[in-house]
Amino acid sequence: MTVMPFTLAGKRALVTGAASGIGAATVEVLASLGARVALADIRADGFAAVQAAVGTCPTFTGDVAVEADCERMVAEAASALGGLEIVVNSAGIVDEVKPALDRDMGPWQRILDVNLRGTYQICRASGRIMVAQKSGSIINIASVNGERAWPRRTAYGPSKAAIRALTRSLSGEWGPHGVRINAVAPGYIATPMIAGLVEAGKVDVARLESRTPLIRLGTPAEVAQAIAFLASDWASFITGETLFVDGGWEAFGGAGDVRTF
Ligand SMILES: NC(=O)c1ccc[n+]([C@@H]2O[C@H](COP(=O)([O-])OP(=O)(O)OC[C@H]3O[C@@H](n4cnc5c(N)ncnc54)[C@H](O)[C@@H]3O)[C@@H](O)[C@H]2O)c1
Repeated sequence: MTVMPFTLAGKRALVTGAASGIGAATVEVLASLGARVALADIRADGFAAVQAAVGTCPTFTGDVAVEADCERMVAEAASALGGLEIVVNSAGIVDEVKPALDRDMGPWQRILDVNLRGTYQICRASGRIMVAQKSGSIINIASVNGERAWPRRTAYGPSKAAIRALTRSLSGEWGPHGVRINAVAPGYIATPMIAGLVEAGKVDVARLESRTPLIRLGTPAEVAQAIAFLASDWASFITGETLFVDGGWEAFGGAGDVRTF
């Protein structure tokens, strides 16, 4: 048996949410494995820091909740790169923390529109290219929040659970055309998203760590490495799956502190 090298050389990738956190780390990891990467985000101001790490690359600004923006960003990325083999949907926003009985539908809908509709719209636009060329790998971002009860957060978890269902559905539809689609489900990862929640007093890091068998938050690079694996030919027989990158959070069934349970 010949073991193929673990490389993304020759692959062309689009990463949404590329200006920050997991998306930015994914750009770095994919580029370091040889891929040419295009960046998409609603904010253009974060692109410079990512380009400082990986060099000049195509960037696109748009809102993944807007259908026309998704069509444009995918078409322009494929055109700028000369093709598209990998797409990573990392654009996402967090929930309000509010009792279900008191929620306004505007903010609730916005979370579903960015996280779920946005993921679907980018999948659909890239799926057209990948199904036609009979190859490609898409990676979506679910969350441990989609797997368990998180009281007072009634939009984010449902959006992430639906991303898993969407990933499975598309894997069945596009697998016969050679297109793989998987998800990673991060636990709590030290990104600006989580820093914002900590600052607002909505997340207690010490309590989260105590509920995590590896007793720490993850790093964006650790999620990006799992994404790179799923994007690569090393994962050539994996589709429709969700890979948890959570320090054991999802597997742990006990109550309280993992060190004393
Ligand atoms: N950090 C965690 O602990 C964690 C855990 C589980 C899942 N996730 C998911 O990982 C993904 C990345 O999160 P992160 O922690 O890196 O967050 P982040 O806030 O650091 O980065 C998210 C990026 O998405 C962009 N974005 C937001 N709305 C957008 C829109 N409408 N259109 C285009 N771009 C948009 C933001 O500008 C930002 O650059 C999200 O889907 C998030 O839900 C994060």
